[in-house]
Amino acid sequence: MRKLIAGNWKMNGALVANQTLIHALLDGLRAQPAVCDVALCPPAVYLAQVQALLHGQDAIALGAQDASEHEAGAFTGDTAAAMLHEFGVRYVIVGHSERRSYQGESDAQVARKAQRALAAGITPIVCVGESLLEREQGQTEAVVARQLAALLECNGNRVADMALAYEPLWAIGTGHAATPQQAQAVHAALRARLHDALGAQAADVRILYGGSMNAANAASLLAQPDIDGGLIGGASLKAPDFLEIIAAAR
Ligand code: 13P
Repeated sequence: MRKLIAGNWKMNGALVANQTLIHALLDGLRAQPAVCDVALCPPAVYLAQVQALLHGQDAIALGAQDASEHEAGAFTGDTAAAMLHEFGVRYVIVGHSERRSYQGESDAQVARKAQRALAAGITPIVCVGESLLEREQGQTEAVVARQLAALLECNGNRVADMALAYEPLWAIGTGHAATPQQAQAVHAALRARLHDALGAQAADVRILYGGSMNAANAASLLAQPDIDGGLIGGASLKAPDFLEIIAAAR
């Protein structure tokens, strides 16, 4: 399956820096075209700028970092999926662990966000992952299974049109990525549960890995049979690093 490399800028960026970064990425991809799909997920306030910078090319798609579970209305500060769609957004991250932790998003709420995104014509990238304590307690598979079950309960076989991202919390921003074997084991467990729910379509659901993926470790992670791409934080803010990760996705 064609892999997806998505950059999650988190709450980073500035008008001038965004322009410099995107020009460098587009130059790099012109010199060495990607054989995977590539997306950038800037903060919402920069979507219009990044949409304009990406106009007229198809090497990089636009993504967003969150979408409301509601269609529209009195939800101050939130962004509706339909609004993202108006700005050309093709992917949206939902249920990132930072939002689950800091905004208290529940499994059910994340599942509804994914549903809204899909209804608006946007592919949700639904994040799952365990904390260090949960891993140490042998709960990893149970945690990601619970998170996936909520998604399936709300969305049924529409999950076949979504992407998942396995992001162990202990690997995010720490410089300590999961080993390829650790990641593959969880990805395979997710794939098996998808297969139980979706049958053969499970093979087509992209399961990305996220958590300290970088230019040095990307190739070995992406070589695993059930790792279908990456969700990249810190390394997506540096053009040479992000381009190396893209080049490793084949
Ligand atoms: P880092 O690549 O900075 O560890 O972040 C991963 C992540 O959370 C992407 O969504």
